[in-house]
Amino acid sequence: MTTTLQPTGVLGTTAAQLRSAELEELITTDPGRFRILTGDRPTGQLHLGHYFGTLHNRVRLQDLGIETYVIIADYQVLTDRDVADHLSDYVEELTLDYLAIGIDPERSTIFTHSAVPALNQLLLPFLSLVSVPELERNPTVKDEIVHSRQSSVSGLMFTYPAHQAADILFCKANLVPVGQDQLPHVEITRTIARRFNHRYGDVFPRPDALLSEAPLLLGTDGTKMSKSRGNAITLAATADETARLIRGAKTDAERSITYDPATRPEVSSLVLLAALCQGRTPEQVASDLGSAGAAALKRTVTDSVNEFLSPIRARRAEYARDRGHLRRILRAGNEQANAVANATLAEVRTAMKCNY
Ligand code: TRP
Repeated sequence: MTTTLQPTGVLGTTAAQLRSAELEELITTDPGRFRILTGDRPTGQLHLGHYFGTLHNRVRLQDLGIETYVIIADYQVLTDRDVADHLSDYVEELTLDYLAIGIDPERSTIFTHSAVPALNQLLLPFLSLVSVPELERNPTVKDEIVHSRQSSVSGLMFTYPAHQAADILFCKANLVPVGQDQLPHVEITRTIARRFNHRYGDVFPRPDALLSEAPLLLGTDGTKMSKSRGNAITLAATADETARLIRGAKTDAERSITYDPATRPEVSSLVLLAALCQGRTPEQVASDLGSAGAAALKRTVTDSVNEFLSPIRARRAEYARDRGHLRRILRAGNEQANAVANATLAEVRTAMKCNY
């Protein structure tokens, strides 16, 4: 299957989307057949784009009873920079965000890449199963190289999709909820699983990507919402910071508020944000506002966002008060991930006849 990279929010009907619809049906009838792995790079706090794009979907799947592993991909941070600054702070921030939105450490395993040696060791046999041209062709890697802060491309950048295959396969996950940009990595994971099984015997499942409908939320400056651009409303921001950011948001001069992403992207993104927070459609929000103008729109957005995030922020603050507890949650997640990774690596060694 080939995948086309399209901006989220304007998804065409791809094979991956059709498959995702099938998977959703299977999930409702038999959640017990699935094991999920998904995760993020610890590069800062999560924002509303992440929340409505992927995070709420993870919690939904966890709450349906699917066994879930959430990886904090700390090694992957080094793919496009020489030094990963503030890594341990970011790992804690990410964990806080996860806990705040409802990832439950009793039911889901939150763990860090670098604390699971057997996971990382899977990279070696996996790299032997992919060719250099296959690595070079990966459209997401190509795109990341273009946006990289490094003058030259590191080996880790080229090989990280195979590393991500190890992230997914170490726990034999068969479902990977991700955004469109991660499809090439799931594809290479499937290829590696197939080739491994063919060469050494059946060890790995061939995981499916699960795409959710990701609404296109712009940052307050009208460009892609991103931590590095200062245009993102983070889950952890205060109500005042949120108000300030939204007050400065880009709009247009027209008084009537409409939802028309193609011709009025900035205004429409604000309408959409209010709608997502209120659990209503953007058309309803726009028609309520009528010709009230941009200032009224911004007030509505601010109130909706702050009301929506208020319980999440309260839970986050609660967890942040006890760093010892936070560390224990991570340590327990790492222990669980290590147990699973060790068992898988033992199977891999046996299959490869390397168990001396
Ligand atoms: N590459 C993902 C990102 O940048 C993070 C990630 C690492 C991941 N390992 C993963 C996602 C395994 C899904 C499955 O967002």
